[in-house]
Amino acid sequence: MDVSDWVDARNGFIRGEIFTSEEVYQAELKNVFARSWVFLAHDSMLKKAGDFIQNYIGEDPVVVVRQADGSVKAWLNQCRHRGMRICRADRGNTRYFMCSFHGWVYDREGSLVQVPHEEEAYAPETFDKADYGPRQVPRLHNYKGFWFGNWDETAPDFEDYIGDFKYILDSHIDRHEGGLEVVGQHRWIIPANWKYNAEQPSNDSYHAETSHASALTVLERSRKKRREEKGEPDNRVSMATRAAAARGKQFSGGFGHGAGWHEMPEGAMRYQAELPATMEWEDSVRDKVEERLDPYRNANRSHANLFPNFMMLANGTMRVTHPRGPNEMEIWAWTFAPAEAPDEVKEEIRVNVLRTFSAAGMFEQDDAENWLEEQRIFRGYMARQDPLVYTMRIGDARRGLGGVPGIIAPSVYADEGARGMYHHWAELMSGDSWDDIARRNAERLAQVPHAEADNSQEI
Ligand code: FES
Ligand SMILES: [Fe+2]
Repeated sequence: MDVSDWVDARNGFIRGEIFTSEEVYQAELKNVFARSWVFLAHDSMLKKAGDFIQNYIGEDPVVVVRQADGSVKAWLNQCRHRGMRICRADRGNTRYFMCSFHGWVYDREGSLVQVPHEEEAYAPETFDKADYGPRQVPRLHNYKGFWFGNWDETAPDFEDYIGDFKYILDSHIDRHEGGLEVVGQHRWIIPANWKYNAEQPSNDSYHAETSHASALTVLERSRKKRREEKGEPDNRVSMATRAAAARGKQFSGGFGHGAGWHEMPEGAMRYQAELPATMEWEDSVRDKVEERLDPYRNANRSHANLFPNFMMLANGTMRVTHPRGPNEMEIWAWTFAPAEAPDEVKEEIRVNVLRTFSAAGMFEQDDAENWLEEQRIFRGYMARQDPLVYTMRIGDARRGLGGVPGIIAPSVYADEGARGMYHHWAELMSGDSWDDIARRNAERLAQVPHAEADNSQEI
């Protein structure tokens, strides 16, 4: 599908049509979701043989199952008989999955193993159960405990797909030797297009000081009060101070991945809320994390999106944003905590996410309010005519700025992440082969000047 009337990512203009059109949406399911690496499961959700969870790639439901030999398989959660959902439990442990419509039974590998009244109902010369297993997800990759799947055999390998985004991804999922574990899960529906929740963590720190002003004020007051009561100095830097400085960076990766972060002075705010046990524990393991990552990434935590729809925040929420038609998204969010942290820390992280970025979270509600209003407004005809402005810090990004891999804008206030995301989105939407897209992607990256070749940028 040619989307050039609506997306000019190079010059930073996008029209609202891409958030509302059913035609665009159907093309997205085919050209974006059926060709991209999507988060499916974490090792901690599939501890032993037979453990399974349901998830989605786009609108296609998949079952992810730990096999007897320790490997993992994922298959389309659709019975070949009449198309019913085979597995209706969110998660569990089983040897077999029985379709609840007519009783066909599949094993963990997704092979059809039993058909009621097979002998009487089907002619043996034309019916072989081996032909009727559900469609397998042909590409699975385990990256540091996180399983990703891709329907497209021609897509780049996962490590090539993430490219420079590895630097960002590791800062979220590889901080601690013992890895992560799930301590909470939430799901909710927002009547707005899925791309808002992909774009915002890729790109938009700019909204926080306005959209979240009330929530930040409340949290800062409670933090100050607590510090006063304990007689401790409040040495944290307020959101308003950081925002005024706009000091930070924005990352754009090759295949639509994006991230942004404020650069924190020593002792600055690490979480929006006060998390005393978590901060104390983090201080105790700081040397180890700095050695594992580096001091810069330990101090400066990003919001990030692995294209298309795997979002990560510094507080431990990670989520897939499932598309549900052009006008709706379904968020599946998990709260991750360091597996080696004390229980008190895990609980604090769980409750903090509940308070801030769950369905009822203070920040989440602010964000959803913006998105659903945008969605309503784009129903208008005139509202979809004028291009939206994605031109912040255009032309200012450099490769490797500040020693960070990728295309790096010199401020947290930039649109580099969104331009990169919509550029890749348009590339996929074209339906061109992955080989062509990967080649053009490499050419595009090579055109961005390296930071060393141009030192005029202020960091
Ligand atoms: S649809 Fe599954 S057994 Fe008939
Ligand atoms: Fe927000």
